[in-house]
Amino acid sequence: MRLLLAPMEGVADFVLRDVLTRIGGYDLAVSEFVRVSGTLLPPRTYVRLCPEIGSGSRTAAGTPVAVQLLGSDPALLAANAARLARLAPHGIDLNFGCPAKVVNRHGGGAMLLDRPRLLHDIVQAVSAAVPAAIPVSAKMRLGIADPSLAVDCAQALADGGAQAIVVHARTREQGYRAPAHWEWVARIGLAVGVPVVANGEVWSVRDWVRCREVSAASDVMLGRGAVSDPWLARRIRGEHDPDPGPADWIALRPHVAHYWAGVQQRAAPVHACGRLKLWLGLLRRNYPEAAVVHTAVRGIVDAVRMNQELHRHGITANPTLP
Ligand SMILES: Cc1cc2nc3c(=O)[nH]c(=O)nc-3n(C[C@H](O)[C@H](O)[C@H](O)COP(=O)(O)O)c2cc1C
Repeated sequence: MRLLLAPMEGVADFVLRDVLTRIGGYDLAVSEFVRVSGTLLPPRTYVRLCPEIGSGSRTAAGTPVAVQLLGSDPALLAANAARLARLAPHGIDLNFGCPAKVVNRHGGGAMLLDRPRLLHDIVQAVSAAVPAAIPVSAKMRLGIADPSLAVDCAQALADGGAQAIVVHARTREQGYRAPAHWEWVARIGLAVGVPVVANGEVWSVRDWVRCREVSAASDVMLGRGAVSDPWLARRIRGEHDPDPGPADWIALRPHVAHYWAGVQQRAAPVHACGRLKLWLGLLRRNYPEAAVVHTAVRGIVDAVRMNQELHRHGITANPTLP
């Protein structure tokens, strides 16, 4: 049984991957997507988005990181993947699930899900371009408007050489609305001969249990659930209390401080404040204390005031972070 940390552009960046994998429980993390359109990207593009590349493609806690590419041109993706492979990422994942309009307009992400032949050709070209030691995987949704081609798409990905397929069990049109249709993961799992990873709407240990029952997948990828409860993977593994509680919030505070320090190094104050507020907003779901802090910092856009307010709530830099 494996637990994967989902790629989440704008949320699970380098700093949050660092925090979440320190808390632990993940076998693999996947970077936000790197968009491939028209050019051969230089190494610095990958290093900027996925600095783990510079440390053996692992987070500080040692969790392997795969880099995700998004595009629609097999030859161009293959050429970029070949270059990326020289940086020795732990794996290369291909995004066939992004619903964003700007991405879809160029035929990328989830819009490819009505073209199984093209999915096949992309995975085949990318697999042929990278050394066998670097696994190529794919992440798909169930379809654009309906799941009628879901099994065809997954088979095309497997036939093309994908070594694992993550299924975000919703169509593009379903966006991020509950429920996730895990039963489709089971159908796909029966149809393909490669590991299928279930993804979507796993927020708690109970969800994980049900997801595994319904999807028949042993591996699960956690997205927003991982961000809103940093101990979720450890809880699932039975290494931590099954539900979030006040002691977790106390233990989380130095991690929030670490995150805040990290985002300030990488972004201008206003954006760093935005990132922190985004994470606090997701933590509200499980931690009432996070809701209090979130409300208190809502209007803050500068680092000095943010530091003052965090300090008032017991969030201060802690050099002895685990
Ligand atoms: C803010 C945000 C950004 C995301 N960015 C990516 C991405 O870069 N690549 C990708 O394949 N999926 C991306 N996703 C989708 C997630 O990886 C995941 O499939 C989805 O959130 C469903 O899982 P969940 O219900 O556990 O959150 C993103 C999701 C969110 C909410």
